[in-house]
Amino acid sequence: MIIDTHAHYDDEAFGEDRDALLSQLPSGGIGLVVNIGASIQTTQNTLELMERYSFVYGAVGVHPSETGELTESLMDWLGEAVRQPKVVAVGEIGLDYYWDEPERDIQKHWFVRQLDLAREVGLPVVIHSRDAAKDTLDIMKEQKAGDMGGVIHCFSYGVELAREYLNMGFYLGIGGVVTFKNAKKLKEVVEYMPMERMVLETDCPYLAPEPFRGKRNSSLYLPYVVKAVSEIKGISQEEVMAKTCDNARKMYRIDDQERTL
Ligand code: NI
Repeated sequence: MIIDTHAHYDDEAFGEDRDALLSQLPSGGIGLVVNIGASIQTTQNTLELMERYSFVYGAVGVHPSETGELTESLMDWLGEAVRQPKVVAVGEIGLDYYWDEPERDIQKHWFVRQLDLAREVGLPVVIHSRDAAKDTLDIMKEQKAGDMGGVIHCFSYGVELAREYLNMGFYLGIGGVVTFKNAKKLKEVVEYMPMERMVLETDCPYLAPEPFRGKRNSSLYLPYVVKAVSEIKGISQEEVMAKTCDNARKMYRIDDQERTL
């Protein structure tokens, strides 16, 4: 069994066959999917998907590039949404200086506010950090994000930063990029990090693994990621699946969630 800790099945890329595809996931070995909010609308979509599919859980939050839309009253709405059953995290939140919009102070402000929200409700966070290594780490340290824990999704930095986040108690999200021939830095991180802190993710529809690079991604391609990790770590694919499932359930506290449903 495989758990996809980060997916965007509400994306328009799945507009034609969303239900057909999602219905195939359990028989394709995907035991559980966490759909991730990236704006107010996609958070709303995530809540709907969670209701519809027993194996879909959700994260509620606004991606740094979308923080221009946020207001205090929308934060109140997020504060309600996050209390729905099956919401297992606040995210994806963070900083994105690759797109570099809206301006950095706005991104930082709403990053901190959403970290506050996670603290208030006692949920882990899903962190998006692109070309913003230092500021992300500084804010997370200042805000003691280690208290909430969570995942650095689609980890794209080197071993040094991996060590920092691992020391804070975070998990690292590993996806399709690890299968790319030129992903030397990520392969080093995978080699370095303990299996106890790895979770698998697609970020679908983006970042399909080889041999589907550039195509639409889905959780059904995660076995290619499992294979790449097993080769780097020198362990069996079964072990990669078992460890990363355990980790995902622990990180998102899925068992606690199931007890209260
Ligand atoms: Ni994402």
